[in-house]
Amino acid sequence: MGSESEKWILMVTARTPTNIAVIKYWGKRDETLILPINDSISVTLDPSHLCTTTTVSVSPSFHQDRMWLNGKEISLEGGRFQSCLREIRGRAQDVEDKKKGINIKKEDWQKLHLHIASYNNFPTAAGLASSAAGLACLVFSLAKLMNLKEDNSQLSAIARQGSGSACRSLYGGFVKWVMGKEDNGSDSFAVQLADEKHWDELVIIIGVVSARQKETSSTSGMRDTVETSALIQHRAKEVVPKRIVQMEDAIQNRDFPSFARLACTDSNQFHAVCLDTYPPIFYMNDTSHRIISCVEKWNRAEVTPQVAYTFDAGPNAVMIARNRKTAALLLQRLLYNFPPESDTDVANYIIGDKSILKDAG
Ligand code: DP6
Repeated sequence: MGSESEKWILMVTARTPTNIAVIKYWGKRDETLILPINDSISVTLDPSHLCTTTTVSVSPSFHQDRMWLNGKEISLEGGRFQSCLREIRGRAQDVEDKKKGINIKKEDWQKLHLHIASYNNFPTAAGLASSAAGLACLVFSLAKLMNLKEDNSQLSAIARQGSGSACRSLYGGFVKWVMGKEDNGSDSFAVQLADEKHWDELVIIIGVVSARQKETSSTSGMRDTVETSALIQHRAKEVVPKRIVQMEDAIQNRDFPSFARLACTDSNQFHAVCLDTYPPIFYMNDTSHRIISCVEKWNRAEVTPQVAYTFDAGPNAVMIARNRKTAALLLQRLLYNFPPESDTDVANYIIGDKSILKDAG
């Protein structure tokens, strides 16, 4: 490893985009291992718009593991971070950098401490899947630093233990998180359904309705749902399995009408089970509802749907336009209906261009 007095530092930086679920994950069957009650499907966004950049470093001069998020030091005591770290340290390999005279043996990783600096280029915890990009990036960069031999699917199973939706950010394109059946979680990981070049005429527009932190975190929200909602089991067992098959077909065939119907109805059902939770959870606000009405009215006026919408655990609207022309028209409508500086304005828009679907990492 080099002597303790040697002042070397080894660093890796990675950038990982966030992902937006079009068939939602909501509800766990195992809280510790983070095992879901249904499969989910997402699209990974263009890393230039919504991503986390993480630098991980190791040095014998570090005396404890420390982490900074957007420049502020955060606690690493949570069990989830420790689970990811334990899994990664357990798989770490020898690392040698001859130029710097660094030679780390795999057993050294158990003693060496890490410094981690992470930066989100979008609002943290405002329902824009910040934990997904964050945990995926953390696992990916640590895996590179410690020279893990695991492939992205195996890394996704580690990221899953940090935050469920994070497992889907290890791939670009369209991604499915297979819920798995095993109690130990060995078959619960992400697989790529189609790569980033597939269906690249889609354009994603995110209306940032509010950049404030959400009141109910996804973790506690879905726990309450599983404990109190009478609808959630019906959703997980009867509705989602059929939608997963249909959504996979819609993606393979670039069938926008089916894609839009499935994405919109699944988002609406997710918010319905939130309302069916006791006490009820309201993630969307009036502006979110007005955006839905605006898109629905437009889609009904056309021969086929032009735009799909989906909302995660927050009021921000993720809209997927079928092509660039539709995206331009959508922006026009949004600016007209939600004018800047008005009561119901949408603070700003994040637009993913044709290259929305890029590879993670
Ligand atoms: C609404 O992955 O944030 O975005 O596993 O407890 O960390 P934990 O929850 P998280 O939940 C995301 C929920 C969602 C839907 C989705 O991304 O599928």
